Amino acid sequence: MNKGLLIALEGPDGSGKSTQIALLEKYFLDKGIEVVRTREPGGTKISEKIREVILDNDNKEMDDMCEALLYAASRAQLVSQVIKPAIAAGKVVLCDRFVYSSIVYQGIARNLGVEKIKSINDAALSGLEADFVFMITIPYDKGIERKRNQKTLDRLENGGDDFHKKVFEGYTKISEMYDKIELIDGDNTIENIHKEIISKVESIVKI
Ligand code: ADP
Ligand code: TYD
Repeated sequence: MNKGLLIALEGPDGSGKSTQIALLEKYFLDKGIEVVRTREPGGTKISEKIREVILDNDNKEMDDMCEALLYAASRAQLVSQVIKPAIAAGKVVLCDRFVYSSIVYQGIARNLGVEKIKSINDAALSGLEADFVFMITIPYDKGIERKRNQKTLDRLENGGDDFHKKVFEGYTKISEMYDKIELIDGDNTIENIHKEIISKVESIVKI
């Protein structure tokens, strides 16, 4: 591998993204490849502060457009401070969520419109694209049930059944819109999902 790589994991809450990111990090480190692991919203000091504001259960009155702009603001800081420099240095960047989350959650589930969310995020990304986008699919009720067993739910996770149903439908919709998105069945063992992701990366990039 002689150039940087951006791999993003996408999918509904509880689909297993963070679990797979941890395994991917180990896979690359074992091969002696430098890895930068990050998450959205978050991944920098400023972006983690924005994350706190977005996910705070107290912020019930947050306007949907304010929410969308905060996600984009967190992303802009992460892209310029962390992702672009890491890729320029030839590292592998593993992103727990990326712009596709905004297209689904804010564009489709919050009904702000895919085009509007894309244009806000074009500004945040300033030309950056992921090399791989793996979208882990899982029935919406199963994902949120896993989250409930793992932690206290945040403001978005507490969005209710209708919201999570729309998120699930949104992911299905965007997987048909973007050729780049590789679908991965999340209703499988953690190890099998890892093997599937690795085999897709290795089929395209010489590691
Ligand atoms: P996400 O980052 O997509 O929200 P996590 O990786 O945090 O999801 O996983 C949510 C919960 O589900 C965790 O408790 C994790 O151990 C569990 N989990 C992850 N992947 C699987 C899987 N393939 N099968 C069963 N449980 C899983
Ligand atoms: P996440 O960090 O995946 O939650 P957790 O670590 O608790 O599993 O994401 C937080 C929430 O933010 C999640 O419900 C999805 C939502 N989200 C958006 O609505 N838009 C976005 O652009 C991103 C990145 C996340």
